[in-house]
Amino acid sequence: MTDARDRLIVALDVETVDAARALVSTLGDVVSFYKIGLELAYGGGLALARELKDQGKRVFIDLKLHDIGATVERATRQIARTGMDFLTVHAYPQTMAAARAGAGDLKLLAVTVMTSYDDADLREAGYACSVAELVARRAGQAKAAGIDGLILSPLELPTIRPIVGPGMLLVTPGVRPAGADAGDQKRIMTPAQAIAATANHIVVGRPITRAAAPRAAAEAIVAEIAGV
Ligand code: C5P
Repeated sequence: MTDARDRLIVALDVETVDAARALVSTLGDVVSFYKIGLELAYGGGLALARELKDQGKRVFIDLKLHDIGATVERATRQIARTGMDFLTVHAYPQTMAAARAGAGDLKLLAVTVMTSYDDADLREAGYACSVAELVARRAGQAKAAGIDGLILSPLELPTIRPIVGPGMLLVTPGVRPAGADAGDQKRIMTPAQAIAATANHIVVGRPITRAAAPRAAAEAIVAEIAGV
């Protein structure tokens, strides 16, 4: 169960540090790994990240960095100094190389193409390729840049795992237990399907954080992972 527990990352997508603390306390030992994203980071979440580390939790800082190389390198070094576990950056070659230079032991995850983008959105943004082509290209570039892992849709796992090999961490949001409300996630898999498709970690937010009984919801997902 410990291994299964470490593979679940709970997205702390709540407005305040107090709400996040209450949730972490409710989830207790069931959850060992948390993701702090933009909303909470801008509301005191980086200090909370330190508290979580002091409680022995693992912490994924989802800031999706993208800037000129010097700035990315220095920002990455700041986050690495705080002892966090994972940090996201956008999968542009310059950005990834700069983050790698500043990361030390901090593991870097590259965001290939946002899962809210489809081919028409890419065209509108000036790209002359499909989402599938761009994801595959960026996955190869991430590997070449020495990036530790990728954030991707669970449906991309079967095509991307062969490109990056077994050593790359593949981390997928868009996971919903059977029967759960999909919300705005369109391309989903169940926890068991995502793990069977070689995800190293799954990121789950609302099915746990908005559940009537969050601890029981998290326990059920850990049990489902353990059963794969
Ligand atoms: O509530 P839900 O389980 O949909 O939360 C998924 C989490 O993963 C959210 O924090 C969301 O911002 C994040 N995420 C995502 N899709 C991406 C990248 C990140 O859903 N492509």
